[in-house]
Amino acid sequence: MSSSIPEERTLVLIKPDAVRRGLVGEIISRFERKGLRIEVMDVRTMDAALADEHYAEHVDKPFYPPLKTFMTGGPLVALVLAGDQVIDVVRNLVGATDGRRAAAGTIRGDFSLSNRENLAHASDSVDSAKREIALWFPELA
Ligand code: PPS
Repeated sequence: MSSSIPEERTLVLIKPDAVRRGLVGEIISRFERKGLRIEVMDVRTMDAALADEHYAEHVDKPFYPPLKTFMTGGPLVALVLAGDQVIDVVRNLVGATDGRRAAAGTIRGDFSLSNRENLAHASDSVDSAKREIALWFPELA
């Protein structure tokens, strides 16, 4: 009998600032070089309803209106990554929310000076990953 632990999945959004700045390849390359597997990937534009669902826990926060405008303002790349402990691994590769404070060597630490235009979103827990994957890629849920 196999005792292997099932791989985790996480949802990543490569945000509109990264698309605009031509950083999509750089960001995906970091995930690939780490050894993570891309299960599905698609260029999408988030509409207002999806933004409100995706950011349900933030809709009442003061930073949400400009975040929504930014996230719905241009194409982004949505992907599901799979791998061992992929949720933590990807959060570490992406770095802290505020690009000005994120560690050098992380995606945000190397390329962002903002807590809004910070290049990538990554699910923060197993429950969030399940919820977000169901929202963006219901065929995988
Ligand atoms: S919090 O406040 O701890 O709940 O925030 P956090 O989980 O770190 O971030 C949630 C998402 O909101 C964005 N964010 C902001 N946008 C604009 N202005 C401010 N001040 C701000 N603070 C947080 C942040 O980029 C996160 O987006 P995602 O897409 O989840 O990475």
